[in-house]
Amino acid sequence: MELVPLSAGLNPPYGMVNFIELHLTAQVENIFAQVEHKLVYKILKKIEMKISSHIVPIRFTINGKDVEVEVEAGETALYTIRERLGFKGTKEGCGIGECGACTLMVDGKAVNACLMLGAQLDGRDILTVEGLELPTGLNPIQEAFLDHHAVQCGFCTPGILMSTHALFNENPNPSRKDIVEEISGNLCRCTGYEHIVSAIEDAVNRLSKEKT
Ligand code: FES
Ligand code: FES
Repeated sequence: MELVPLSAGLNPPYGMVNFIELHLTAQVENIFAQVEHKLVYKILKKIEMKISSHIVPIRFTINGKDVEVEVEAGETALYTIRERLGFKGTKEGCGIGECGACTLMVDGKAVNACLMLGAQLDGRDILTVEGLELPTGLNPIQEAFLDHHAVQCGFCTPGILMSTHALFNENPNPSRKDIVEEISGNLCRCTGYEHIVSAIEDAVNRLSKEKT
């Protein structure tokens, strides 16, 4: 004998009740979900407004000079340095810590400025590419980049120069492998990296000759 489901035509009242019950439950769940989403959205918006409207006065050193500036609590160090202070050598690429274009030095270490808050600059010692030049002229790293044609469009260059400077701070005599590892976080779409690595190897030699 063929089994007939309860909600099918043989039992109209039960099937109808079942249908209405299910339909209403889905509708009610939908309404709750929408209310919940709106509430969560409103709360997040309020938090975001509170964070971004909070002004923080900070003071730090950049390229050897003391600066005082007011920043919004939610802005990045990249925004503070490029847009508020005008150090345009620090580039904005991906904005999410992937390309290295925004690399600068914070207390002697290479940092992606897009991943740091402006407020965190307070009390720090910052070096951007504008501060790399020596009183006597170009830094040997910059000279080596020029001589080896390691620059094409130049968008990645400030970040790579800063990563190289950070590498030399930690290891004045890096191997080719060390160099490749260090700049692996800096993306370059133009050069194919060969000229960049050769320039950095040459900069190692130039700097070691200067010391002797
Ligand atoms: S802009 Fe900071 S890593 Fe790309
Ligand atoms: S020189 Fe163009 S991205 Fe590196």
